[in-house]
Amino acid sequence: MLIKNGAWIKMDGASSTVVPLFRKQFKCRLPVEKATLEVTCDGVYEAELNHERVGDFILAPGWTEYSRRLQVQCYDITGMLREENTLGITVGNGWYRRTNAPWTGTDNPDEFLPAMVIAVIHIIYEDGSEELIPTDETWEVSESRITLSGIFIGEDIDMTKELSFSPAVIAEFSKDSLIPQEGPEVIEQERVYPRRSFRTPRNEWVLDFGQNLTGYMFFETDAHAGEKLSLSTAEVLDRDGNFYTGNYRSARSQVHYICREGHQSYKPKLTFFGFRYLRIDEAPEGFSADDIHAIVLHSEMTRTGFLESSDPMLNQLFSNILWSQKGNYLDIPTDCPQRDERYGWTGDGQIFCRAGTYQYDVRKFFGKWLSDMRAAQHENGWVPEVIPSLTAYKPGGAGWSDAVTIIPWQLYETYGDLTFLSDMYESMKKWLAYIPTVSKTPDLFTGCWTYGDWLALDHPEGYVPENIELSKRGYSNDDLVCSAFYANSVAIVIRAGRILGQDVSKYEDLHDRIVEAFRKTFGEKLNTQTEKVLALHFDLTRDPDAVARALAEQIRNCGMKLQTGLVGTPYLLHELSRYGYSDIAWSLLLRKEYPGWLYSVSKGATTVWEHWDGIKPDGTFWDDDMNSYNHYAYASVADWVFGVAAGIKPASPGFATARIEPHPDRRLESLRAVLDTVHGRISSFWKYTENGIRYEIETPVETKIIIDGKSITVGKGKYIL
Ligand code: BGC
Repeated sequence: MLIKNGAWIKMDGASSTVVPLFRKQFKCRLPVEKATLEVTCDGVYEAELNHERVGDFILAPGWTEYSRRLQVQCYDITGMLREENTLGITVGNGWYRRTNAPWTGTDNPDEFLPAMVIAVIHIIYEDGSEELIPTDETWEVSESRITLSGIFIGEDIDMTKELSFSPAVIAEFSKDSLIPQEGPEVIEQERVYPRRSFRTPRNEWVLDFGQNLTGYMFFETDAHAGEKLSLSTAEVLDRDGNFYTGNYRSARSQVHYICREGHQSYKPKLTFFGFRYLRIDEAPEGFSADDIHAIVLHSEMTRTGFLESSDPMLNQLFSNILWSQKGNYLDIPTDCPQRDERYGWTGDGQIFCRAGTYQYDVRKFFGKWLSDMRAAQHENGWVPEVIPSLTAYKPGGAGWSDAVTIIPWQLYETYGDLTFLSDMYESMKKWLAYIPTVSKTPDLFTGCWTYGDWLALDHPEGYVPENIELSKRGYSNDDLVCSAFYANSVAIVIRAGRILGQDVSKYEDLHDRIVEAFRKTFGEKLNTQTEKVLALHFDLTRDPDAVARALAEQIRNCGMKLQTGLVGTPYLLHELSRYGYSDIAWSLLLRKEYPGWLYSVSKGATTVWEHWDGIKPDGTFWDDDMNSYNHYAYASVADWVFGVAAGIKPASPGFATARIEPHPDRRLESLRAVLDTVHGRISSFWKYTENGIRYEIETPVETKIIIDGKSITVGKGKYIL
């Protein structure tokens, strides 16, 4: 990488809250054969060459395990060069200096490093000569017109501010962590226009974009210098129809823009928001809803999966699931895109991963994140709860740290790419080696920190939690949950190891012992729905049919309600279908009352919520404390719709051969699922007709089609049954 010819530079004496604009003016002899700019920073940057944005990557260099891996972007700038050039690079706090965010280890911005940049321009002239222009003291720097910037504090801009440049100074900062760009770029996607402009009961001027989304806003206006445009965002309105921002917690989701004279346009450069509504707190004379729209941001990925049914509410759920993936696959897989969190929670990442692979090609996206997981894994094997890790982080525990086995295995299944397994095999084994060092019981995973079945609804009647933290945890036995995931991770290591040609006998023995110990300790005590689901899903019970029967009974007995949390919900419908209770799975999916997937749809949701009752039937909120309206954990149900309801699953890794076993239900007239696999397009459609069910199946590979228990094996082609 040529960038190492450059020096890290900073603004002399600037504090970490200053958003500097670095500048280099340089001459260039034309004609140029090829020119590139390599650049990165400790924050997020936007580069402009001769007043034109360099590249499309928003929030570059992205978020990685910075202490070990800081991505460098390389842009082709050949066509942008003139004889006289000015390169400007604005550096904001981004994820590097996470002011206003929990668990960063400090709340004091002075403890963060100041903004720094490192770059090199490389010009190859047509005559074959070359020139390098690296960052050094000849570069200049000024405070930029962005007066405040951060992922969790929005952006303030003063267009009347005069720039005043002075020489940059060299910063002592390591170049060892610099690596070439690995992940897909975050780029601007669709534009969304306000559907409605209205006054709330409190007389706030609010625009409704009709869609909860992740991105920022673009506005255009005529103004006099000094006039202000102030915008606040929100995901939902409160019961009375007023603007509500309580669930952002400490995140300041605002833009404050001081206009210059004349016609102008702007969009935030160094931050993003999760929102559906915008409140216009102040605007220049004559500003209207037509002058503003939203721009959606997410990592560049190819869409691979499509769902459509005869039920408009179910279709809205499918849309909500898709939007929750778009909103949370922004450089890293996040829990939510709006509050003061937006972290790469390992649990949420693994829970939604399978659904995610049905909807988008996520190979490159997860390739980068798994590299960060390897980099963040503790020497003794524990995997942090969030990746990239934070200063004040801890092991994720069962279901969270197990992302280290579950995600690579899922990617291998979907794409057939062995490198996901080979790259992660050592990390998987390290995680397994860690467990016995902390577990209180041999061959089980007990007595350790875990989020349990987070957010489950199965507290017994009358249970009053001592504190809010406890109220978020389900009632499943933590030791059972941890041990079940332990067994699963060992099972994955066995499968992965066999494929990689490794000796896995030690893990086979371990797995036998875990299953034995699990049965002995928990076999007769599968109380909660999640306990049953995990025992079934990870093949840990002696009599799965009896456990499945008990699970079905339990759901019926509590009024056809699921009670599972983040850990049990992703597997619940799968296990019901696997043991012949697809009718119950459908009941849960189609349930319009709380708790059910269509409840939030009935409340007007356009993304999937963190809590089944994020907005309660009476219109009040679950709580301010932890209430995201764009949280994809429960959106994981998409993998049941693709894989079971429509029945599309790989029969061998990467869908080299397929298996299509639809599970239709009369309550839905028709369902269509389309999946673009690495071997071509598979589609599965069913529809109830007067004479029965019509199936239309298309496959590019040898496929076993199973309908009503009867199976046929077909080759590439289209089939009507
Ligand atoms: C996140 C979750 C995450 C959890 C850990 C929350 O704040 O939003 O989705 O998995 O913390 O329990």
